[in-house]
Amino acid sequence: MRVRIKRFKEGRIIEDTYNLEIEDKRTVLDILYLIREMEPTLSFRAMCRASICGTCAVKVNGEHKLACNTQVESETEELVIEPVDNSVPIKDLVVEQDYLFERMRKAALWIEAKDNLELKPSDIQKTQKSWDCILCGICNNVCPSVQSDTSFGGPSLFTKAFGVVEDKRNGEDKLKQLIPFNIQSCVHCKNCDIYCPKACTPEVLITLIEGRMLKKGYIQRKTEDFGFLGF
Ligand code: SF4
Ligand code: SF4
Ligand code: FES
Repeated sequence: MRVRIKRFKEGRIIEDTYNLEIEDKRTVLDILYLIREMEPTLSFRAMCRASICGTCAVKVNGEHKLACNTQVESETEELVIEPVDNSVPIKDLVVEQDYLFERMRKAALWIEAKDNLELKPSDIQKTQKSWDCILCGICNNVCPSVQSDTSFGGPSLFTKAFGVVEDKRNGEDKLKQLIPFNIQSCVHCKNCDIYCPKACTPEVLITLIEGRMLKKGYIQRKTEDFGFLGF
């Protein structure tokens, strides 16, 4: 198998090629570790190897994936591994990820309990998709609105926000804190739903949050929403 790695180095992308014999069902992350035995300076992020830590997102043959849960058939002829899109590269395959946590801090996305209310299993089930999010950032990497509007909070922020705004223990109005993050920039293309490795359905959660914000008067209905009426 030929493995081409596009590495960000000194302000530009360079490409290294390796020829490897790979056993069946090895993951892209296994392959990166194998290559690092030959090229110790190769940088990439990974911690858990189990789709939990959210650090190992890369592009594999043009598609955004978690390296640790992407298996490769031994007969694959070529693999192209590169850094994710819509991101600030740091070194080789490593990109800036602090922004994910910064935005959550800015939106104060934590529960501020007003009393000792206990959640029922049905409450937890309602927000399960949000808690399943591992903050890998892939939804942001594939989002056209993240690319075109820097004020847009991005699908990962709203996915995490859903679990917090829906939590009935909150004493604070967490929905209000999302106003600056321009939720209406989402064009509902569903790229995020398609590529999310944890099936969190960010677009569905964005639609639900948008509906609640409209109802509260925190955002106004977009005029183009009525475009189909033809006047
Ligand atoms: S919603 Fe999915 S793709 Fe987005 S950060 Fe969470 S786990 Fe990753
Ligand atoms: S549905 Fe919205 S948030 Fe998801 S990728 Fe498309 S524009 Fe981005
Ligand atoms: S190494 Fe943790 S998600 Fe891939």
